Order: sequence, then structure tokens, then C-alpha cells
Amino acid sequence: MTIARTCSNDEKTQRAGEDFGLLLRAGDIILLTGRLGAGKTTFTKGVAKALGVKERVTSPTFTMVRQHGCHNSQGIETLHHGDMYRIESAGEVADLALGELVEENGVAVVEWGELASEIFGPRAISIHFEVHEDESRTLSVHGEFDETRRQEFAEWAKR
Ligand SMILES: Nc1ncnc2c1ncn2[C@@H]1O[C@H](COP(=O)(O)OP(=O)(O)O)[C@@H](O)[C@H]1O
Ligand SMILES: [Mg+2]
Repeated sequence: MTIARTCSNDEKTQRAGEDFGLLLRAGDIILLTGRLGAGKTTFTKGVAKALGVKERVTSPTFTMVRQHGCHNSQGIETLHHGDMYRIESAGEVADLALGELVEENGVAVVEWGELASEIFGPRAISIHFEVHEDESRTLSVHGEFDETRRQEFAEWAKR
């Protein structure tokens, strides 16, 4: 079964991120894929809002990974926002040690997460952004989830 949510404008994509952010748990790694301008950063801004990040979230293209302090009741203290656009090999992704970073009550949201999926595999939550001719986006969620999670994400898709 595909878990997918279609967003007709950028506000709705941000809202999709916000709703998704509320479902996250410490240790989660979310990989975002889709072409330039697909809405990956827009979605991440929504996740950040849900997690109670106070500062502005922008594309971390030159820094690779940016850390944002969070304020929420989910026990998530840090949002690691990555951008792998300039990364050429899975080895470089491994060097970022995201798997270890999220163990300290963090979550990671990674734009251009294709290479990272080689490392994290189904342990990660993958969200693919498809852009339609009318500019709407369809966000489809992939990964190996337990039944509770699958239900939560299915509910998220219906909103
Ligand atoms: N449904 C939509 N969802 C997200 N962005 C949209 C949508 N429709 C138009 N846009 C526009 O597309 C751009 C998305 O940019 P951004 O989130 O930075 O993409 P990415 O990080 O994937 O490169 C924004 O300028 C936004 O206003
Ligand atoms: Mg971006």
C-alpha cells in the first residue's frame, strides 16, 4: 500500500511537514528525494515548526548539515537538517555520522537523500516528492514501519 499525500500549494506542503513532524520520534532519519524546487525545504520548515524550532530554517547547501535546537513534548532536542546535493559518494554521507547524531535525542531530515538511502536503507523514512504539471506535489512515504507507525502515516496521508 502506498502512503501518499498531495499538496496543492507550498503552504500545504509546509503543513504536511508540520503534521509529519508531530509523528517523529527521537532517532528518526527522514530522507527527502525529488528534483530541485520540489518542496523539500518547504516540508522541512513544517517539520521544524512542529518540533518547536525557533530560528529560520533554510537550505543548508553549503554546510551539509545544520543543527537546530527544538522545544517540544516529543523528547526531540535537536533537528539535524542535511543537504546532500553536493555529496558524491555514500562514503561522504557515512562521514557525517547522522546515525550517531540522532542517537542523542535527535532526528535528521536530509534533502537529496538518495545516496543516504544506501547507508540507512529501510531503517530510514523516505519521502519522495513528485511535481505535477499543475505545480501540485505528491509526497509518498516509504520504509519499513511497525503497524502502529504505518497506521499513523496512513492517517497523515488522509489529511
Ligand atoms: N505544492 C507545492 N509545494 C511546495 N512548493 C511549491 C508548491 N507549489 C509551488 N511551490 C514552490 O516551489 C518551491 C519549492 O522550493 P523548495 O522547498 O526550496 O524545494 P527544494 O528544497 O526541494 O529544492 C518554492 O518556491 C515554492 O513556493
Ligand atoms: Mg532545498
